[in-house]
Amino acid sequence: MSRWLVLGGTHFLSREVAAAAVARGHEVVCAARGKSGPVPDGARLVKVDRDEDGGLAPLRGERFDAVVDTAIISYRWVREALAEFGDTAGHWTFVSTMNVYADLSRRGEGVDTPLLEPRYTDPDGPEDFGAYGPIKVASEGAVGEAVGDRALVVRPGLVAGPGDPYDRFGYWPARFARGGRVLVPDALDQPFQMIDVRDLAEWIVASGERGLTGTFDASGPRMTLGTVLEEVAVAVGALDLELVAASPGELGEAEVMPWQGPRSLPLWLPESHHGVVDRDTGPALAAGLRVRPVAETALACLEYERELGTERERQAGLAADEEAALLEKLRFADGNRG
Ligand SMILES: NC(=O)c1ccc[n+]([C@@H]2O[C@H](COP(=O)([O-])OP(=O)(O)OC[C@H]3O[C@@H](n4cnc5c(N)ncnc54)[C@H](OP(=O)(O)O)[C@@H]3O)[C@@H](O)[C@H]2O)c1
Repeated sequence: MSRWLVLGGTHFLSREVAAAAVARGHEVVCAARGKSGPVPDGARLVKVDRDEDGGLAPLRGERFDAVVDTAIISYRWVREALAEFGDTAGHWTFVSTMNVYADLSRRGEGVDTPLLEPRYTDPDGPEDFGAYGPIKVASEGAVGEAVGDRALVVRPGLVAGPGDPYDRFGYWPARFARGGRVLVPDALDQPFQMIDVRDLAEWIVASGERGLTGTFDASGPRMTLGTVLEEVAVAVGALDLELVAASPGELGEAEVMPWQGPRSLPLWLPESHHGVVDRDTGPALAAGLRVRPVAETALACLEYERELGTERERQAGLAADEEAALLEKLRFADGNRG
């Protein structure tokens, strides 16, 4: 048993990391405000607010065998955590993102490709999403400087699974389970990669235990969007499904967004971003990352979607009436579509 500090632990990935560490027999301290939810059973919450100067003071002087930081978009948070625990931590995992790469259109590449310029100032608000990649680059640099000899830097692409706050992957199991005519992007040969949050968490903890260091693109094997959607459809047992494909041009005209957000078709990406769903994840897979079948993720997401209520206002995807109106419009635009 060793002593783990999970910065976060009340939400999605960091919570799954804490749960995996507890399940593997470790003593787990989660440091968060406690606003996003409870920590997993068996972990201890120490309330901290990283937005405040010296916000980690409640843990000052404590020593940990392993620290996991998922700081999403704050260089200051990362620096302060390193200052508090970097000297004494046995191992350090920083969760970064594939959005660090300078050219997101380049496919099949590994971690040694050019990165964005770092940004050292934190954004004023959540709308400054352009800061995400540059702040992660700066944060990775700070981790490298302070604890580079003990650091694992994990760059996930799309993370899916129960607890996902972005509603992206879950749109498809929920939508297919409803059946009928389903609007899909006419881009089913698009490359696609994903990782189940539980697989990523398990790998992070197993890697910390054995002291794995280095930087990894952490996602599953390369697939296509079409294969993934088919696996989801089969998993949820959608019997009366009819896929209606709309071209990217038609979707653009109808103001349907790719990837995420309201009025979107999640997981669909323009070519300019195919590099975040088509990276060489061989090194992570060779370093022990185990990836469950898409069907398992789909069923877990469907259960989670039903808990949340499939009629809710979504973070990503089309509302039922939006989709029906779009299908109707396509019907008149092209008699072949029914
Ligand atoms: N989702 C994806 O597809 C995707 C893709 C690539 C990379 N990633 C990376 O994966 C990671 C996801 O991490 P996550 O799921 O744990 O979510 P997260 O949104 O990074 O973390 C949320 C955690 O931070 C805590 N927190 C928020 N404000 C705080 C504050 N002021 N002081 C202290 N704690 C605070 C929250 O707890 P309280 O609210 O309780 O304080 C919660 O436990 C991120 O690093 C992200 O960049 C995600």
